[in-house]
Amino acid sequence: MKTAITELFGIQHPIIQGGMHYVGFAELAAAVSNAGGLGIITGLTQKTPELLAKEIARCRDMTDKPFGVNLTFLPSFTAPPYPEYIAAIKEGGVRIVETAGRSPEQYMPVLKAVGIKVIHKCTSVRHSLKAEKIGCDAVSVDGFECGGHPGEDDIPNMILLPRAADELKVPFVASGGMADARSLVAALAMGAAGMNMGTRFIATKEAPVHPNVKKALVEATELDTRLVMRALRNTERVLKNKGVDQLLKIEREKANTLKIQDIQEQVAGVYPKVMVDGDMDAGAWSCGMVVGLISDIPTVKELIDRIMAGAELIIRQRLTGFLDGDEAQKPVRAVA
Ligand SMILES: Cc1cc2nc3c(=O)[nH]c(=O)nc-3n(C[C@H](O)[C@H](O)[C@H](O)COP(=O)(O)O)c2cc1C
Repeated sequence: MKTAITELFGIQHPIIQGGMHYVGFAELAAAVSNAGGLGIITGLTQKTPELLAKEIARCRDMTDKPFGVNLTFLPSFTAPPYPEYIAAIKEGGVRIVETAGRSPEQYMPVLKAVGIKVIHKCTSVRHSLKAEKIGCDAVSVDGFECGGHPGEDDIPNMILLPRAADELKVPFVASGGMADARSLVAALAMGAAGMNMGTRFIATKEAPVHPNVKKALVEATELDTRLVMRALRNTERVLKNKGVDQLLKIEREKANTLKIQDIQEQVAGVYPKVMVDGDMDAGAWSCGMVVGLISDIPTVKELIDRIMAGAELIIRQRLTGFLDGDEAQKPVRAVA
């Protein structure tokens, strides 16, 4: 399948693995790129720019295909040295950067100067248009369903994607709630040129996280995510657990007086406890509603291959079948 996104990034399939804290290590990024998608290393999971440089080199050892690095500009307890991280990306020869959170505007000149392609993750049409205006090559349009930070507008992808299609000139991928062939075809139908998946990629053999995390994803349903930090205007969609129950209790008690310090125990330093130690009740970690569509732990290649094969089947048989008048009764029960 060829789309504006496969052409822009030089990849075989229009499927991107979004940056994920403590998940987006070289193993996963390389597996996704080797399977024909675009794998992305999460820059800030590497505690220093030097460690990011090593992670990039490790990924290059595992794949000769294009891969990217995610740079997230979110409120954090201590601001990371972004220029040094960008230097590590440049010197590591990485030519694709996924930015997220605040606008990457101040870093665009230095990224563009070396020909790095930038895809910015946005949760609204206005932010997507801003990304286009400042020179981003593509946008990842992240609907309210998404794992992580859905923003504060709460617009799901059924609305957000066609709105983005009506306004954007640069290509965009659908992000949030994407899991399978059905997601991809729906995203393409709504104007996207591919899809970005986060949560689905955690439940794969290559994702370098504790087996408890993958088991929790297979067991959870679409009813099991919660929104936290709303009062701080830093909303995050996370998987419900005992730590999150406690966090929500504090949020209810503090209401509009909530400060980040009140919930530090439930949000800071949680990722290594969950992803490395497998402590599933440690606190808030991002997870999308799409968890309700995850029922197995395939290899990345199996997942991507079945998405692409399933998408072809839906397009060639189900959709054209409707036009030919002979497919109306067949359900599409794709395995996510
Ligand atoms: C565990 C986890 C950690 C994430 N960490 C980051 C991150 O550090 N930076 C970022 O830009 N997005 C992060 N995301 C968001 C993903 O890149 C992606 O946009 C999102 O998961 C898409 O929604 P989905 O989970 O429904 O596929 C994270 C998502 C998950 C599930």
